[in-house]
Amino acid sequence: MRCLIVGTGSVGTVLAAYLVKAGHDVACYVRPSRRAEYESAASLSVQSTGRTPSLDLPRPAITDQLNLQDVDVLFLCVKHPALPGLLEQLPATLPQGLALVPCLNGVGLKPKLRKRFPGTEIAQLTIMFNARVEQPLSAILTTKPEVQFNTNNRDLLEMFDGSGIVMGQVDDAAEWGKLLINLNNAVCGASYTTFKDLLTNKVLTGVFVKIMDEAIAVYEAANVRYTLPVPVPYKLYRWILLNGGPIAWWIARFKNGLTDQAYPSMAADITAGRKTEIEHLNGVIQELGRVKRIPTPANDRLISLIHQLEAGERKTLSPEELSRTIT
Ligand SMILES: NC(=O)c1ccc[n+]([C@@H]2O[C@H](COP(=O)([O-])OP(=O)(O)OC[C@H]3O[C@@H](n4cnc5c(N)ncnc54)[C@H](OP(=O)(O)O)[C@@H]3O)[C@@H](O)[C@H]2O)c1
Repeated sequence: MRCLIVGTGSVGTVLAAYLVKAGHDVACYVRPSRRAEYESAASLSVQSTGRTPSLDLPRPAITDQLNLQDVDVLFLCVKHPALPGLLEQLPATLPQGLALVPCLNGVGLKPKLRKRFPGTEIAQLTIMFNARVEQPLSAILTTKPEVQFNTNNRDLLEMFDGSGIVMGQVDDAAEWGKLLINLNNAVCGASYTTFKDLLTNKVLTGVFVKIMDEAIAVYEAANVRYTLPVPVPYKLYRWILLNGGPIAWWIARFKNGLTDQAYPSMAADITAGRKTEIEHLNGVIQELGRVKRIPTPANDRLISLIHQLEAGERKTLSPEELSRTIT
C-alpha cells in the first residue's frame, strides 16, 4: 500500500520504519523548512532499549507536498496543538478510497474528522508504544512496539503483518480506557519523572490514583464504557498501585516492555517549552465533569499547573510538592 506519514516525529518515525519493514511504499511529509535535514538522514532507524530488535532501513521518500493522489493510507502523527493548522493544509475532500488514520492520543478526534471529511474512512490507531525522536528519521523505542486499530477493515488490520509490531483490534471503550492511563502524562510532566518513577514512588502513585478516581467518577456519571489496557478491573488496578509495591511497574515492564528510561512525551514537551496536549487528556475529564456536574478539583489543579509550566511561570515540582499542590 502507498502510505503517507504526516508528522515524522517520535510516533511517525517508528510507524514509518515498521511500515517499510512490512513492505509498503512509504513517504514522509515534513515542513518545507525541514526537508533538507530529513533528506540528509543516512537511514531510517529505530533503536530499541529493550529486547525488541532495532531497525535500520533505507530512508523512505521525503516530501514537502501534501499530494494525496494514489495515497492509500494517510497517517496523522502530529500532536494536538499542530492539528488545526495541518487540517487547514488538507484539501476539503480527500481522494476516494483513502483511509485516514489519526494516531494522536486522546478521544473525540474521530467525530471531528468524520465531520470534516464525510465519506472518508477514519480508523483510529492507538499507539501503545513509547518512543522519542533523537534526530530526523531516528527514534529510540523504550517499550515493545504495539499498536491497536479501531477498525474492522482487514487490509488495515493486516498492514503491519510481518513487521514485528504487535497489532490489536479495539473499540471505542479501549480508547476511553487508554485515556484513563494517559492521565499519567501530566503527573510525570509536572514532576519530570519516568513511568518507572510514577509506578514505584508512593507519592506519585497516590497523585495518579487521585486523578484517575476523579475520571472514573466522571465516566460513571456520563455512562462512558471503558476497557483498561491492563488485564484487571480498575478497582484491582487501583489497589495494586496503592498497596502492591513495585507490582504495577513489573506488570508494565512485562506487558509493555517498558524500560527504565521511558518518559511520557509531555515531560519532553514541558522541558522543551512546547505546548502540551493537556486539553485533550485531563481536559477531557474536566469538561465531561463540568457537563455532568461532577467536581474534578485534582485534575483542575493539575491542568492549571501544566499551563503555568508551559508558560514558564514555574519549574517542575518534586513528587511531594506536586502531591501538596494537587490534593
Ligand atoms: N511519543 C510517544 O511515545 C507517544 C506514545 C503514544 C501516543 N503518542 C501520541 O502521538 C501523537 C504524536 O506524538 P509524537 O510524540 O510523535 O510527537 P512529536 O515527536 O512532537 O512529532 C510530531 C511531528 O509532527 C510534525 N509536525 C507538526 N505539524 C506539522 C505540519 N503542519 N506539517 C508537517 N509536520 C508537522 C513535527 O515537526 P516539527 O518538529 O517540524 O514541528 C514533529 O516532527 C501525540 O498525540 C502523542 O500524544 C505519542
